[in-house]
Amino acid sequence: MTDGRRAGGNGVPELMDAVHLEQDGGPLVVRRIPVPEPGPGEVLVRMAAAPINPSDLGFLAGSYTVRRPLPVVPGFEGSGTVVAAGRGLLPRLLVGRRVAVAAAQGGTWAAYAVSTALRCIPLGRHVSLEQGAMLIVNPLTALAFLDLARQGRHAAIVSNAAASALGRMIIRLGRTEGVPVISIVRRPEQVAVLRALGAEHVLDSSEDGYAAGLRELAHRLRATLFLDAVGGAQTQTLVDAAPAGSTIVAYAALAGEPSVFNARTLIGDDKKIVGFYLGHWAAHKGLLRTVRDIVRVQRLAGTDLQTTVRRRLPLSAAQEAIETYRHDMTAGKVLLVAD
Ligand SMILES: NC(=O)c1ccc[n+]([C@@H]2O[C@H](COP(=O)([O-])OP(=O)(O)OC[C@H]3O[C@@H](n4cnc5c(N)ncnc54)[C@H](OP(=O)(O)O)[C@@H]3O)[C@@H](O)[C@H]2O)c1
Repeated sequence: MTDGRRAGGNGVPELMDAVHLEQDGGPLVVRRIPVPEPGPGEVLVRMAAAPINPSDLGFLAGSYTVRRPLPVVPGFEGSGTVVAAGRGLLPRLLVGRRVAVAAAQGGTWAAYAVSTALRCIPLGRHVSLEQGAMLIVNPLTALAFLDLARQGRHAAIVSNAAASALGRMIIRLGRTEGVPVISIVRRPEQVAVLRALGAEHVLDSSEDGYAAGLRELAHRLRATLFLDAVGGAQTQTLVDAAPAGSTIVAYAALAGEPSVFNARTLIGDDKKIVGFYLGHWAAHKGLLRTVRDIVRVQRLAGTDLQTTVRRRLPLSAAQEAIETYRHDMTAGKVLLVAD
């Protein structure tokens, strides 16, 4: 190849720009690297957009559940168009389709990404590539949480870090499905954001009397499913507020500190703390539920499962994108878009 194009490659070049993390903590750099080849069961996606999520910040710092050898292309999800397929019927069927894609080995912060066909969701015509880029991690988690509420016959849900994109989805889905949601935020401005969304029960953890107010409300609404994205000292506050028989779902550690709780406060009232990771949940839910959720995320992409986008930046500005996002996560997602 002399013209920089790959033989028989649908206009796919040999080299591409990709964001590289070369040491834990960064900085991020953009490198010219070979476009990856899809193997059996895999597809090559020409990326359109990819968000920065809290899990990415953990990954960049080297403190996330998932670790990969360095140097590495970061990014766990995104969207684009399938331009090449490895061996297998499903990959071939996806060629030419716009998809939401979850990363397999290679990350999504690049001009092209390879993933398995099973980690792609073909997008309906009404779903934009921009919303499609954020259609997997948070929307599928929000659906999973409402499933947990239904399966456990929980009358109401408590959700912290609730001004997050995911927290807003939980509020909207709860309203649609008739499950009251008590949302906990940490700043007065966030109370206003959630009220504007139509949230009925919003508590600010920085206010005096917050813990007692949470306990009173959780008992009154019989909220027995607590979704904890914060951890640290907040976990004990949730345990203390929870009615007997409650389940506390630890699904993130935004406080950056281990969850602290006294086991005695769990045992007496039959309360439990369980972990949640979307990857494990998705692996165990079976084909029927997977198909149902794929249909639902598309249907609700423009409503209950919509995500606010604050800024779009090219791959070459990845470091600036990280700083912009980190500075104010509540303001909305920062997307890395094709240059
Ligand atoms: N376990 C799983 O499988 C799974 C799946 C999906 C999402 N998640 C987790 O769900 C959480 C929300 O994700 P997202 O993409 O929706 O987030 P996001 O939209 O980027 O927003 C993050 C929110 O967290 C708040 N926050 C940050 N640190 C906090 C702290 N120490 N105490 C209280 N609030 C804090 C931010 O508020 P400020 O503006 O005040 O900083 C912001 O409102 C993340 O932790 C993510 O990792 C986990």
